Order: sequence, then C-alpha cells, then structure tokens
Amino acid sequence: MTQQNPNFNTAEHDWHSAEYVDEWIARDVTRAERPGTLQEMLAIAPFPKDAKIRVLDVGGGNGQVTEAVLKAFPNAQVTLQDYSQLMLDRAAKRFAKYGNQVTYVLSDLFDPKWTASLKGPFDMAVSGIAIHNLREMEPITSVYAGIRGVLKPGGVFLNCDHFAGCGGIALHVDALKTAGYKKAEAVKDAKPGISAAYN
Ligand SMILES: C[S@@+](CC[C@H](N)C(=O)[O-])C[C@H]1O[C@@H](n2cnc3c(N)ncnc32)[C@H](O)[C@@H]1O
Repeated sequence: MTQQNPNFNTAEHDWHSAEYVDEWIARDVTRAERPGTLQEMLAIAPFPKDAKIRVLDVGGGNGQVTEAVLKAFPNAQVTLQDYSQLMLDRAAKRFAKYGNQVTYVLSDLFDPKWTASLKGPFDMAVSGIAIHNLREMEPITSVYAGIRGVLKPGGVFLNCDHFAGCGGIALHVDALKTAGYKKAEAVKDAKPGISAAYN
C-alpha cells in the first residue's frame, strides 16, 4: 500500500539541460552545510572506517554523497546511479583518480527495472536530495522497495532528503516500512532531514 502525498512542494529542475546542471552545481558548492549533513548521515553507517563495503548512491548526481562516502570509508566500492548523463559525466570527471573504485549507472528511477543494471548486492545505499524529485509517494515507495531489493540482508539505506516539502519525514518512514524494511526511523527532522532503514 502506498500513500498519496498530501503536501508536495518542490522546485522545477531540468537535469538534462547542461545549462541548468552547471547552474545547479555552481549554487550547490556554495551550500556550506551540505558536507556536514552528509557526514552526520554517514556517522550512522554501522561499518568500520576501513571496511571494503559496496555502496550504491541513488540519484548520485555529480557526486557530493559519493565524495562523502569515500571520505568516511576510503575502501568503499561505490556505484553512482543517476538518469542524467550530464551529471554522470561530471561525476566521472570528479572521480577519475579513483579508477574503477567508482562506477556509474544510467537509469531512471521511474523505470520499474531501474535496478536491473546495478551489480548488487550492496552493504549500504545512500541518497542525497534526489528521491523527492519523483514528487509522489507511490513511485517514491517503489524506489525505496527497489533499493531494499539490492541490499544485502542487514544492509542499510541512509537518505538525506527534502522530506519536509514532500509530506514530512513520518510519511517517508511509513513508506520505508511499507517497502519492507525491518526497521526504519527518522534520524533528523530538518531541512533537509535524514532517514535510516535496515534490511
Ligand atoms: C539535487 S540533485 C542531488 C545530486 C546528489 N545526490 C547530491 O547530493 O549532490 C538530484 C539528482 O537526482 C537525479 N534525478 C532526478 N530525477 C531522477 C530520476 N527519475 N531518476 C534518476 N535520477 C534522478 C538528478 O539527475 C540529480 O542528479
């Protein structure tokens, strides 16, 4: 069962326009609070710093979250997924020095088969201000379930997102439970907030 989102309020984006993507990245780098929020999110991850974990970054864009993952877990193997080739190109340039420690997958979260080309299973999935782009709880809940499907048993999904503008974090915690996670919780109810879910 999925819920209709009564309270959706997000900006328009064009992630397939080079002009928009460059403008967004230029604005994003000025948001000084972002690395701290991602650090706070990754502090929840139940792995030692040197763990060779396999991580999926959903809607990874140009790689802010992947960068934070590599900083927190230098031996992590990261798959960065996005539907914008422009974003993937910018991420590939950013992480060129990591070779095949970072790999890229082009897929659309609206496509029910979006996980098919991911080489799971993963120890952890992460996402940063991406999934709210789907705008409705039904596709969002399907994506939460798709992520669970590529996690190892005991794997964790950490999501930092604009829950407040998209129904509120409690609605998302319910959606995570609907998606089948054993445990789901609101870690931080802020703008953006942080949720954690365990497979
Ligand atoms: C606000 S950016 C965030 C990027 C990155 N996660 C970060 O924290 O900087 C949102 C990202 O979600 C991606 N995105 C939006 N809708 C998507 C969809 N339907 N399928 C896959 N990716 C999507 C966009 O291309 C964009 O890279």
